[in-house]
Parts: sequence; structure tokens; C-alpha cells
Amino acid sequence: MLPTIDWHDDAIVMIDQRKLPGAEVYVRCRTAAEVARAIKTMVIRGAPAIGVAAAMGLALGVRRSKVTGTAKLAAEFQKLCELMAATRPTAVNLFWAIERMKRTFAAAAQAGLSVDEIKDRLQADARAIHDEDVAACRALGHFGAELVPQDARVLTHCNAGALATAGYGSALGVIRAAAEQGKRVAVFADETRPFLQGARLTAWELVRDGIQTTVITDSMAGSLMRDGRIDLVVVGADRIAANGDVANKIGTYTVAVLAKEHNIPFYVAAPVSTIDLSTPDGAQIPIEERDRREITHLGSSQLTPEGALIRNPAFDVTPSRLVSAIITERGVFRSPYTETLALAMQGGATTS
Ligand code: MRU
Repeated sequence: MLPTIDWHDDAIVMIDQRKLPGAEVYVRCRTAAEVARAIKTMVIRGAPAIGVAAAMGLALGVRRSKVTGTAKLAAEFQKLCELMAATRPTAVNLFWAIERMKRTFAAAAQAGLSVDEIKDRLQADARAIHDEDVAACRALGHFGAELVPQDARVLTHCNAGALATAGYGSALGVIRAAAEQGKRVAVFADETRPFLQGARLTAWELVRDGIQTTVITDSMAGSLMRDGRIDLVVVGADRIAANGDVANKIGTYTVAVLAKEHNIPFYVAAPVSTIDLSTPDGAQIPIEERDRREITHLGSSQLTPEGALIRNPAFDVTPSRLVSAIITERGVFRSPYTETLALAMQGGATTS
């Protein structure tokens, strides 16, 4: 399985996703600040993957601390949490992982554990978050594969694969599981301007797995659907609000509208760590605005004239009425999402 992120001795090692598919380069982060920087600069990206990275970064930062005494360690830990929280605003998995690590710290401190034991607990929990994410992706892949017919032509947007998770992937987990069940699947990967996660990362992963993959520009999806060449859409998510509205990579909303127009099922695949019941609807989800240079340049080539105004929102929100189902490790949930997602978060009954 693809090594997205791992803990090696005294460092956190991650594949540099900015360099793919041209080069397989691994970045070693030796401090929490280096991990935070790796998240901010997209060395690692994808909602579940950045949650795992933040948890590991916190554990690493605490492990490196020289302070004596739980109170001082707690103060340092709080600063590290603030550092991680300031990296990227949209994917809730980041904040979910930070909150979980805070609870782990508080429980260890309350139990009267020593500073060294608290460090061990945090490292163990960061590893657990990693392993649980792989298990969640495999489980949701299994549920999602039931929705994929034989000979399916599947459109996906951005990269919700092994690289975007601790391994196996969410949307690509569904595709992988279907392929493992012996179904023939052909994937259409939107290139996903401007960062090209689809062209660079989704295509790289699927080609490695021997799954037929056609890269298209984002503007081709509608015409393919109209020509009857797409059977279903499956995408990942960065945050799912309590009413089922879905924040995901910019362009996802366009794909969902097109799918509705052409009566094509539009599925969202995500672990429950992406569901945020404290955010009532999509309008409350913070949308990251990224550097204008991602739009104005391709490598060192300038694409736009000086003086042109630029917008670069990294995500958009798809209203829940366009979402056919949300596939999680606890089952497949459908509208009315306010009720079914609440159930999902309680450990929930599977609906299909
Ligand atoms: O900006 P990115 O590359 O972090 O955005 C990633 C996405 O939008 C993914 O679709 C989402 O995080 C789901 S990943 C399983």
C-alpha cells in the first residue's frame, strides 16, 4: 500500500505530493513546526491525511519538549495545537484530530501519568488515528463497492485516494474495493485545476493499481455525461455539515449539478471524522483562499496578464439535495441527512 505518512524513529516521513508524479521524494519532518509547514505547503494534503499529520506532529512536538512537569508540558502542547490549527481551515479532520489529541493529553494528565508516559500516550494515539483511518477507508470502500455496477464508468474529482488518507483512500477506496470484488471499473479523473490533484495524484495511484484511468479537463465532464459515458460520480469530502452539505475541492459543486441534470448518482465517500455536526450547514464552513500564483502560473510560466484580478477558493460547497448518498465506514447514509448523519455519529444504523 502507498506510504502516505509514517513515523520513522525520531521523524515523521511523508511522500512529497507536490513532486508527484515526476519524482517520488520523501520529506522527513523532525519538529512539529516542520509538520505544520508540510501541511500548509501541501507536501501532504487531503482531509484525513492532514488530520493524521497534525496528530503525529503534535506527538512529535511533545516528544521533543525538554520541559519538566505536566503543567509546563500542557502549556507547550496548547501552543502546538494552535500551530497545527492555523495550517488549513476547511478540512475538519484536522480539528477533529487536534481535539482528540487534547482529550488524550487531558486523560493522561488526570490519571497522574509522568511526562514521559504522557508523551508515550500521545504517540500511541497518533499511531492509532493513522491505523483507524486505514481501517475506515477499507470499511467504507466495502460499503461503497455495493453501489458500483459491473463495467462501471466512474467520474471522480480531485484526489481522495491513498495519498489523501492514511492509506487506501475514500472515493478511490470505493473504486479499489469494487475492483477487488472483480468488477471492471473505468475511471475518469477530472484534472482538478489549479493544483491538478486529479491529473497528477489520482491518475498516478490508479495507474499503479492497474485500474483503467482517463484524465479529462474539468470542463469535459458535462459533455461526457450528456453522451452517456458516466454511470456514477464518487468524490471525497473535507467537511460534511450536519444537514449533509459537503465541502470538497473547488469544482465538486459543478460536477454535482451536472450529475443531477443527467440523472447520474453523485456519491460522497468519507470517514465519520469528516462529519461535523457542530456546523449546521455548508454556509458556515470556512473556505480556504489560496495563493493567486496557483492560478497565474504553471511552474515558472505565467498564464495570466499582469493586472488581472484573481480568485482562488480551494473548496466549494455542494448542497445536500444534490448528494445521492454519503458512504462512511458505518454504512451508507441517505437523505434526510440531518437525521441519518446524527445516527451515523452515534455509531449508527446503516441505511441503504
Ligand atoms: O486541497 P486538498 O488537496 O487538500 O483538497 C483535497 C480534497 O478536496 C479531497 O477531495 C478531500 O480532502 C477528500 S480526501 C479523502
